[in-house]
Amino acid sequence: MPDKEVEIVISLRNLTKKFGNFTAVSNFSLDVTRGEIIGLLGPNGAGKTTNMKMISRLLFPTEGEVWIRENGDLQRLTAQNKDVLLDQIGFLIENPTFYDQMTPKQILSYFAKLKGYPKKKIPERIEEVLSWVKLSEWIDKKIGTFSKGMKQKLGIVSAMVHDPDILILDEPQTGLDPKARREIRSLFMDLKQQGKTIFLSSHLLYEVSEISDRIAIINNGQLIAFDTIHNLESITQDSILKIQLLSIPKDIEKTRAQLESIIKPLTGNKNGSGTVLYKPNSKIFEVHFDGNLEKQHNILRELTKNEIDVVNFSVPRTNSLEDLYISLVSGVTKLTPETQEGGI
Ligand SMILES: Nc1ncnc2c1ncn2[C@@H]1O[C@H](COP(=O)(O)OP(=O)(O)O)[C@@H](O)[C@H]1O
Ligand SMILES: [Mg+2]
Repeated sequence: MPDKEVEIVISLRNLTKKFGNFTAVSNFSLDVTRGEIIGLLGPNGAGKTTNMKMISRLLFPTEGEVWIRENGDLQRLTAQNKDVLLDQIGFLIENPTFYDQMTPKQILSYFAKLKGYPKKKIPERIEEVLSWVKLSEWIDKKIGTFSKGMKQKLGIVSAMVHDPDILILDEPQTGLDPKARREIRSLFMDLKQQGKTIFLSSHLLYEVSEISDRIAIINNGQLIAFDTIHNLESITQDSILKIQLLSIPKDIEKTRAQLESIIKPLTGNKNGSGTVLYKPNSKIFEVHFDGNLEKQHNILRELTKNEIDVVNFSVPRTNSLEDLYISLVSGVTKLTPETQEGGI
């Protein structure tokens, strides 16, 4: 995206939240741009809710600032301007609790009025948002009779009943069955099509990876990755080149060293890529590298040039974004500015 089209709508700047000596969110900086879906992904306890509570001002940051666009300018969120800045955002933070005796119509009209939605249009708007989550028939039913999933769907639409441009949704898919999750994912895609900006959290990768333009991974309160899925995938050393030779060499170590001397200069030198291993069970040689097509082509060309009798040459994509996520949150992999260079 060229810079001129990028409009930052929320800017989190060095947000830190301490509870006593414990730091729940640490120096967290991230910009949300208009029209994108950002998935905030992290294990339970990572700091997702705390982060979102600081945006909604349910919690005050210990340090750092939240900036929100209003009337064409980014403004720092303060006690004075919080109502104006926050009314244009729809929030769903933690599990919503509703009074059992109330109905969706009552709840939604309460939120719509609270956020200043034009009074006359409220009944129509309520019907519209309930239809999005297939709760139209339940408009006048008491919430006490609702399943957990239905309450969650009501929570999601109560965040958007006043038609905000920006949605901040904390684990919106919690408690939903797979069918409802799919419906909600498609609702989010529809909202994005309408130009809405969505910042949502989840502890489950698949819930954010299908819909998010960018994924922010938080662990122990720190932002450890923030990029498009494509870039996150491509920074993993995620390909294994498998080379099968016509016959099993007599001196395996000699052949292995020969292959390595050909291949290593072609793969770049990051994280041991280009090291050749022999797998006795499958009787093939394996090389870890980044899966770059041009490198693959060069390797095959050089092997042929050197008259290596290759009969099979394949690059399965073994690791996935999930593996990257797990290795990031377990601390096995750390992204450096160098590995993130392809990022936005
Ligand atoms: N009010 C609080 N007092 C003390 N510790 C808290 C409080 N709220 C959250 N925490 C701690 O902060 C960490 C982050 O919590 P949270 O933001 O809820 O994580 P997530 O939403 O990613 O599961 C957790 O270790 C949690 O126990
Ligand atoms: Mg949480």
